[in-house]
Amino acid sequence: MKFKDVSNVAMIGSGTMGAGMSWCFARSGYDVNLYDVSPQQLERACARLESIQKLFVEEGLISAEAGRAARKRITTVTRLEESLDGVQYVLEAVPERLSLKQELFVQFERCTPDDAILATNTSGLRITDIAAVCRHPERVGGMHWANPAEIVPLVEVIRGERTSDNTVDVIYRVTEKLGKAPVVVNRDIPGFVSNRLQYAVFREALHLVETGVVSAEDVDRTLKCGVGFRYPWLGPLETADLGGLDVFHGISQYLFKELSNMTTSPVFFDEVVREGKLGIKTGQGFYDYQGVSRDEVLHKRDLYFIRQLKLIHEIKAR
Ligand SMILES: NC(=O)c1ccc[n+]([C@@H]2O[C@H](COP(=O)([O-])OP(=O)(O)OC[C@H]3O[C@@H](n4cnc5c(N)ncnc54)[C@H](O)[C@@H]3O)[C@@H](O)[C@H]2O)c1
Repeated sequence: MKFKDVSNVAMIGSGTMGAGMSWCFARSGYDVNLYDVSPQQLERACARLESIQKLFVEEGLISAEAGRAARKRITTVTRLEESLDGVQYVLEAVPERLSLKQELFVQFERCTPDDAILATNTSGLRITDIAAVCRHPERVGGMHWANPAEIVPLVEVIRGERTSDNTVDVIYRVTEKLGKAPVVVNRDIPGFVSNRLQYAVFREALHLVETGVVSAEDVDRTLKCGVGFRYPWLGPLETADLGGLDVFHGISQYLFKELSNMTTSPVFFDEVVREGKLGIKTGQGFYDYQGVSRDEVLHKRDLYFIRQLKLIHEIKAR
């Protein structure tokens, strides 16, 4: 399969990720069959698509007419075989269980043209393990998005041990066509790149809170107002280049050995989870969300992200 031959896409799973990813494909001109094992979930996905469309139009990311056309390119399908029929590209977004994904990949091979690209949005399972059940593992690759998929630009393109160069190339170029920011991950390692970076920061944040160095609020403030404030514009290596590598090298000598190297979660974090304090969905996490509407918080988050995205586009276009 060549990049230019991809026009029809099957999205398998219409949950948190599937709906937003479908929108991105449709917006870029692809026809999407959106399949889910649960018809109720497909209904919820349709409602979510309506609200994404509304937000994108309101925020001027797409015209009303183009928004309607994009939405029309997404067809919900309740039979797996039908969703896969004749498509050149499959993106799987079902729950993170290896056996479930493997079962589906066997079906993908059975029901799609021989050279279709088979991609998975797995967060952490090995692409190589998912592809192990396939007759043609060379056409299986990772396409790892970030939530909310319709807004966050990053997509990691992951090469499994048997993924072909062509598969990596097609996933990469499709990602570019979607207006996203692809990054090739050359080895099928746990956490790929983005979660390794995210969890390195998360581990240190937990360690600092556990040892009483700083409150949860202030660890978040430190990131948002300091280190993280720079990140949309300068990555950690660009920051080091601007600061001077001699300076960063010198600090690394005494600081690396002080950083958390814990290999399991800290006890206080285990306890919080055991007590059912799971964050906004249970009303309590590191913060108190009693009486706070989850939908409102997520809407506000999406608005911030969209405005940041617009600002980045605007400044880059200058
Ligand atoms: N949520 C995130 O932040 C995020 C980010 C990046 C990657 N991912 C990955 O994306 C994948 C999907 O995550 P999600 O958060 O969208 O999950 P989700 O639970 O919101 O959605 C999964 C959907 O798959 C459907 N499903 C279950 N079994 C199915 C089957 N046999 N066939 C078709 N559909 C089936 C469910 O009905 C559900 O609608 C996972 O692998 C996850 O690790 C999630």
